[in-house]
Formats: sequence, structure tokens, C-alpha cells
Amino acid sequence: MLERQSMMLFKKLTARSSLLVVMMFGLFTVMATGIASAQDAASIPTDPAVVGAGKTLFDDNCAVCHKVHGQLLGPALKDLSKRRDVAWSKAFILNSQKVIQSGDADAVALYEEYGKLEMPAHDFSDDELNAILAYIKDESAKAPEVAQAEEAPAAEEAVQELAGIFDNKYMSIILAVNLLILVLILIVLGLTINVLTKYLNEKAELAEEDRELASQRFDFRAMLASKPVVFFVTLLFVTLVTKTVLDGLFSIGVQQGYAPTQPIAFSHEVHAGQYEIDCNYCHTGVTKSKNANIPSANICMNCHSTIKTDSEEVQKIFAAVENNQPIEWVRVHNLPDLAYFNHAQHVKVGGVECQTCHGEIQEMAVVKQHADLTMGWCVSCHRETKVNAEGNPYYDKLVEAHNKRSKEPLTVEDIGGLECSKCHY
Ligand code: HEC
Ligand code: HEC
Ligand code: HEC
Ligand code: HEC
Ligand code: HEC
Ligand code: HEC
Repeated sequence: MLERQSMMLFKKLTARSSLLVVMMFGLFTVMATGIASAQDAASIPTDPAVVGAGKTLFDDNCAVCHKVHGQLLGPALKDLSKRRDVAWSKAFILNSQKVIQSGDADAVALYEEYGKLEMPAHDFSDDELNAILAYIKDESAKAPEVAQAEEAPAAEEAVQELAGIFDNKYMSIILAVNLLILVLILIVLGLTINVLTKYLNEKAELAEEDRELASQRFDFRAMLASKPVVFFVTLLFVTLVTKTVLDGLFSIGVQQGYAPTQPIAFSHEVHAGQYEIDCNYCHTGVTKSKNANIPSANICMNCHSTIKTDSEEVQKIFAAVENNQPIEWVRVHNLPDLAYFNHAQHVKVGGVECQTCHGEIQEMAVVKQHADLTMGWCVSCHRETKVNAEGNPYYDKLVEAHNKRSKEPLTVEDIGGLECSKCHY
């Protein structure tokens, strides 16, 4: 009896404890994997110096195609460490094609999703890879930069544009219409006189002086020779000649709308628009020097060594690199030698957007000259544009002194932007 009872107890106990063991084991496995993945993500350094080094590496090698927050040519890298393990990320960065060709399902899916764009291979040490991942992780934790609403300037621009249209096209149209109306009035007046004269002549019982008036011929020659008419015609002639000469003088070399065919069908719409590649990536001089610079074929090769290599147009880049010949781009914008223009002064110091002077380049399949680049264009912007003094201690005193003298904001004109020698050598 006792034996049976203890036997039952023992069986129960074993059953319970084996259940317990299974449960314990399960718990342990879950914890272990948890710890492992925590360790995986934790192996990414957080030291600010390393993060800083990672940012530099990222900006130099990845930023053309990747942002942390938001998609460019490649996917957004936010929270990369949460969706991929460190070893996978490192292998993919070093040689994505190797990972894809190994048949890794995630890598193949990404490659398909991004239209088989090949990410270039990189030659990094493990420290460098850690630094890049550290930067991505650090940046992921930050809120994305919110694009500032710039509605006010847009409205201002629209008004300016309208004013410009009125200046040019509408004024000419209004003038032409006025002239037409004047001519029509003259014709109607002439016809009325004719009808009236006929009517008077047909009436027999006219007084003597009325008859004289009715039979009076209109003396065209006398009128032409009269002083007011001579004066008026001379004035008109002189004005026209002066205007033509002035127009001619000031329009030398003006090529607004010029859009030459380029040796390679390079499209800003694709590169700067669709793929949002930064203007500075190719035009490396805009913030540093007078010239914006046209990129060399090597910059194209950063991407086209792997992207669209079978395209005929892209192969022209390869030919240029192989033969060590520069691509002969046709220059679109060209000031005469007598004028001095500096990009860094306008872009970096002045904070003027490329589009203000060049139009919506990122929508152009072929670059077209947007502004007329005349002296009048430079000068009127200098008269209207406020100096961008924010965060520029050099201007603080100037602004202070100016505000004492005047209620108007400090414009480029006020800092000497209309002096001949600033723009002419
Ligand atoms: C020429 C453009 C280009 C450059 C440069 C580039 N990538 Fe990529 N990257 C891509 C594309 C496109 C993909 C999508 C996968 C594919 O098409 O192969 C990708 C995918 C990735 C992925 C996988 C993302 C995910 O969601 O799993 C990582 C990680 C990555 N890139 C990191 C980097 C890092 C780090 C650098 C700089 C060292 C870099 N890439 C430079 C284009 C680029
Ligand atoms: C940051 C990467 C990048 C750089 C740098 C770059 N391209 Fe591209 N390019 C692209 C991408 C992406 C496409 C679109 C590929 C597609 O349509 O699948 C493209 C498309 C093209 C095409 C059209 C190819 C075709 O037949 O559809 C031409 C031509 C071209 N690029 C020329 C250039 C030239 C010239 C340069 C250098 C001045 C240059 N690219 C620099 C990424 C780049
Ligand atoms: C991928 C490289 C690349 C990017 C990105 C790029 N450009 Fe260009 N840009 C070129 C090349 C190459 C040329 C010369 C061929 C041409 O005129 O299309 C050029 C020409 C120009 C010209 C005309 C130069 C002349 O001959 O007078 C202007 C203006 C210009 N780019 C402005 C911009 C602006 C603004 C952006 C950004 C919105 C931008 N570019 C982005 C490569 C680039
Ligand atoms: C204030 C007006 C203005 C702004 C802003 C401006 N440009 Fe220009 N850009 C010009 C003028 C004027 C020329 C002609 C210069 C010459 O012929 O010496 C020019 C010429 C160029 C050229 C032809 C090559 C060269 O080196 O001169 C490129 C490329 C160019 N600009 C790109 C840009 C880009 C990219 C930006 C924005 C980052 C920009 N520009 C901003 C007025 C401007
Ligand atoms: C903000 C810059 C700027 C200032 C200030 C400026 N110019 Fe000019 N000027 C230009 C540019 C750019 C051109 C070339 C474009 C053109 O022909 O319209 C030019 C052209 C000229 C031309 C015509 C030359 C030709 O061959 O067509 C004359 C003359 C001239 N400037 C004289 C002056 C005088 C005098 C002053 C001072 C009162 C002056 N400029 C101030 C920018 C400036
Ligand atoms: C869209 C407006 C705009 C246009 C167009 C423009 N500029 Fe300017 N320019 C500026 C601004 C803003 C500054 C002030 C930059 C600063 O804060 O120093 C400036 C400054 C300058 C300066 C330095 C003036 C000084 O006293 O330090 C020169 C020189 C100059 N521009 C030449 C030109 C020439 C030449 C052209 C025409 C080919 C031109 N700019 C067209 C906006 C413009």
C-alpha cells in the first residue's frame, strides 16, 4: 500500500520535474538568444570619437547613395542593427555582390527591390566597419531633420516672377494693342470725314462759308511740314535708334535659354532629381571657389563602374577614362572675361540657392541657361537681396551701424555690391 503510494508520488514528481526541466530549458534558450542578439548590437561601439570617425567615412563613401533617415539610391539605414546582424552588415558593406551571389535570401530580396543597382564593394578594416555602424546606430536614435517650411520666400518669388513677366512680355503686348487702337481710331475718323463731306456737298442750300469748308481739301503736305509733326517724328526716330544701340550693347553674349546638346546624354533630372544626388557631390567647387567645376569622369565612375554598365551612353565614360581624355562638355553659362563672378561668395557666404540663378536644374534632362546673366540681372538682385548676416560675426557690426542709419534691411548694395570694381577686373 505504502509502496504503491510512494510509487505514484515518484511518478508524479518525475512527470512534473521533467515538465519543469523542459520549461527551464525553453526559458534558457530564449534568454540565451536574447543575450546573444543584445551582445550583437552591443558590440557596436558608442564612443563619440568612433562615431565621429564613422560619420567622416560615411560622408565620404556612402552619403551619395544612403541617408540614415530616408531613402536615396539605396535604402534608409535607420535601425540597421535591429534588422540585420552585425556580421551580415559587415559582409554586405565589404562586398554586397558576394552576399547576393551566395543566395542569402535577404540580400537577394533587397537587390531585386532596388532594381538590381549594384552597391560598390569597399575595402575597410574591421575598426572602420565598426565606426560606420556606430555612426549609423547613433544617427538612428536621433530625430530626422525636419525640412523647414519655406512658404513665404516661395510666395515672394512668385510675385517677383510675375513682375518680371509684366516687365517684358505684357508691356510689349499692351503697347502693341494701344498702337492698334490708335490706328483704328484714325481710320474711323477718316471715314467719318469722308461721309460728312459728301453729305454737305449734296446739300444745295449751303451758306457761302460752309461751302468753303466742305470743299476744303485736306492738305497732307502742309501737315507733314508743320513744326509739331517734324518734332514728333524726329523724337521717335532718335528714341528708336538709341534703344536699339543700347539693347545691342547690353545684350552682347546674352544667351538666355541656351541648351546645347552634350557629348554624353547626362541628365540632371535623373541624377539630381530622381536620385537626389547632392549638387556638391559633382560640382565640388561651389562652396570653396570661384568656379563650380564640372565633374571629371572619375566621379562618374564612382557609380558607373557598376551601374548601367551596358548602356551605350555610360560606355562613353569608360572610353574617356581608358583613353585618359576628358569628356568635352559644352559650356552653357559663360560670362564675358571682363566680369568677375564667384560661386563660394554667393552659395556659401550669401546663402543663395543654385535654383535662384540656374532655375530648376533637377528637373532638366538637358541643362538650359535660365537667367540672362546680364549686368542688369546681377545689379537688380544686389539691390533687392538682404545680406545673409545670420551666424556671420563679420556682419554684426555692419548690421548694427546700418540699422542706426536706416529702416530698410541691409542689402548687398549697402555692402558695396554696386561698385564697378567688385565685378570688373
Ligand atoms: C552607388 C550607391 C551606393 C553606395 C556608394 C553605397 N551603397 Fe549601400 N546600398 C546601395 C543599394 C542600391 C542598396 C540596396 C541593395 C542592392 O541593390 O544591392 C544598398 C544596401 C545597403 C545595405 C543593406 C541595407 C538593408 O536595409 O539591409 C547596407 C547596410 C548598406 N548599403 C551600407 C552601405 C554603406 C555603409 C556604404 C558606404 C561605405 C554604402 N552602403 C555605399 C547603394 C550604395
Ligand atoms: C551617385 C551615383 C552616380 C553618379 C556619381 C553618376 N551617376 Fe549616372 N546614373 C546613376 C543612376 C542611379 C542612374 C540610373 C540608372 C537606371 O536608370 O537604372 C544613372 C544613369 C546615367 C545615364 C543613363 C544611362 C542609360 O542608358 O539609361 C547616363 C548617361 C549617366 N548616368 C551618366 C553619368 C555621368 C556622365 C556621370 C558623371 C558626370 C554620372 N552619370 C555620375 C548614378 C550615378
Ligand atoms: C552626378 C553629377 C552631377 C550632379 C549631382 C549635378 N550635376 Fe550639374 N552638371 C554635371 C555635368 C556632367 C554637367 C555638364 C553637362 C551638362 O551641362 O549637362 C553639369 C552641368 C551643370 C550646369 C551647367 C554648366 C555650364 O556648362 O554652364 C549647371 C548650372 C549645373 N550643372 C547645376 C547643377 C545643380 C544646381 C545641381 C543640383 C541640383 C547639379 N548640377 C547636380 C554633373 C552633375
Ligand atoms: C548668384 C547666382 C548663382 C548661384 C546662386 C549659383 N550660380 Fe552657378 N553660375 C552663375 C553664373 C553667373 C555662372 C557663369 C560663370 C562664369 O561664366 O564665369 C555660373 C556657372 C556655373 C557652372 C558652370 C561651370 C563653372 O564652374 O562656372 C556650374 C556647373 C554652376 N554654375 C553650378 C552651380 C551650382 C551647383 C550652384 C549651387 C550650389 C550654383 N551654380 C549657384 C551664377 C550662380
Ligand atoms: C554686380 C556686378 C556688376 C557691377 C557692380 C557692375 N557691373 Fe558692369 N557688368 C557686369 C556683368 C556681369 C557684365 C557682363 C554682362 C553683360 O554684358 O551684360 C557687365 C558688363 C558691363 C559693360 C558692358 C561691356 C560689354 O562688352 O558689353 C560695361 C560698359 C560695364 N559693365 C560697366 C560697368 C560700370 C561703369 C559699373 C559701375 C558703375 C559696373 N559695370 C558695375 C557686372 C557688374
Ligand atoms: C540672386 C541674387 C544675386 C544675383 C543674381 C547675383 N548676386 Fe552677387 N551677391 C548676392 C548676395 C546675396 C551677395 C552677398 C554675399 C555676402 O554676404 O557677402 C552678393 C555678393 C556679390 C559680390 C561681393 C560684393 C561685396 O561687396 O562683397 C560680388 C563681386 C558679386 N556678388 C558679383 C555678382 C555678379 C558679377 C553677378 C552677375 C553675374 C551677381 N553677383 C549676381 C546675390 C546675387
